[in-house]
Amino acid sequence: MITLGIETSCDETSIGVVNNGRMLSNIVASSLEFHKVYGGVVPEIASRHHIECINYVFKKAVSRGRIRLKDIDLIAFTESPGLVGSLLAGISFAKALAWALGKPLVSVNHLHAHLLANFLEKRKKKLTFPFIGLVISGGHTSILLCEGCEKFKSLGNTTDDAVGEAFDKVAKILKLPYPGGPVIEKRARRFNGKGVINFPKASLQKNSFDFSFSGIKTAVLYYVRNRHITKKEINRIAYSFQENVFGIIVKKTIDACLKSGLKEIAVGGGVASNRRFCEILRNNAKHYNLDIFIPRREYCLDNGAMVAAIGEQMGKRGVFAKSVIPVKTGI
Ligand code: KG4
Ligand code: ZN
Repeated sequence: MITLGIETSCDETSIGVVNNGRMLSNIVASSLEFHKVYGGVVPEIASRHHIECINYVFKKAVSRGRIRLKDIDLIAFTESPGLVGSLLAGISFAKALAWALGKPLVSVNHLHAHLLANFLEKRKKKLTFPFIGLVISGGHTSILLCEGCEKFKSLGNTTDDAVGEAFDKVAKILKLPYPGGPVIEKRARRFNGKGVINFPKASLQKNSFDFSFSGIKTAVLYYVRNRHITKKEINRIAYSFQENVFGIIVKKTIDACLKSGLKEIAVGGGVASNRRFCEILRNNAKHYNLDIFIPRREYCLDNGAMVAAIGEQMGKRGVFAKSVIPVKTGI
């Protein structure tokens, strides 16, 4: 079964082709460069960029996947959450394509797609439902109980900034470029290990799986104020901030897994591409014999293949979106 996945929820225009869980192509055109100067994503620029390049991305995904248009069985698209104008560009394209080809449509949740990106990886031990999902991205920090491709229960969320957003804002405070995640990871790696700063840990209710990152962001801001910040000091702040935030996320995710009696944790979202995060999570999970699934960087960031991966599973279960015209599913 060949599924086309369309992702336009934020600043990446991406279309992927998946054949029974195997990725055939995954094309990404990012508008990141145009947002850098503003220090964050500008919704109007992102939606215009989607409209300008979606046709090209589609043609490239089809040719790279070595398929013909008539081979496509199913079209999946990100329906929410995301920037309204950006989502609209992908939804309109998906609906028009489904109408033109007479193919069924599946609407997909962006967070769930991030987690099912793990199914695209070839591993000896395969991820199976049920598992605990952790989405850490620029817009979300969520722990979910994942029982099936349409059965996700939210266990905890951020009450203020998303973790990726906190990385971006701390980078701005340190006068580092946008996006902050990769550059903070790089600067933290350069830290010589002497004198970690004890930034406060967000103290939310003991049994809650919710997060708060605005406190540590403000703590960094106050720390930097009225101080001469050298390059070495930036490395120290980056390291201390990163360890603090990842410590909280890893603890809560493992607690959620132990509480639900499950053995597998799957992670997704841009922040999951951070090597130090993977190291902390895997080291801690070892003590409880938990299996960790983190996709490669290409599948951590926003991409169309992850949308096709979950769309295909939903399509096989007959969960279709309303199409503009009734079509025979034939699946
Ligand atoms: O999942 P994603 O591509 O887009 C959203 O759905 O938000 O995530 C983008 C976010 C940005 O905030 C970026 O700073 C963060 O992921 N990010 C990282 C790293 N690479 C990207 N954060 C920490 N470490 C990284 N290596
Ligand atoms: Zn995302």
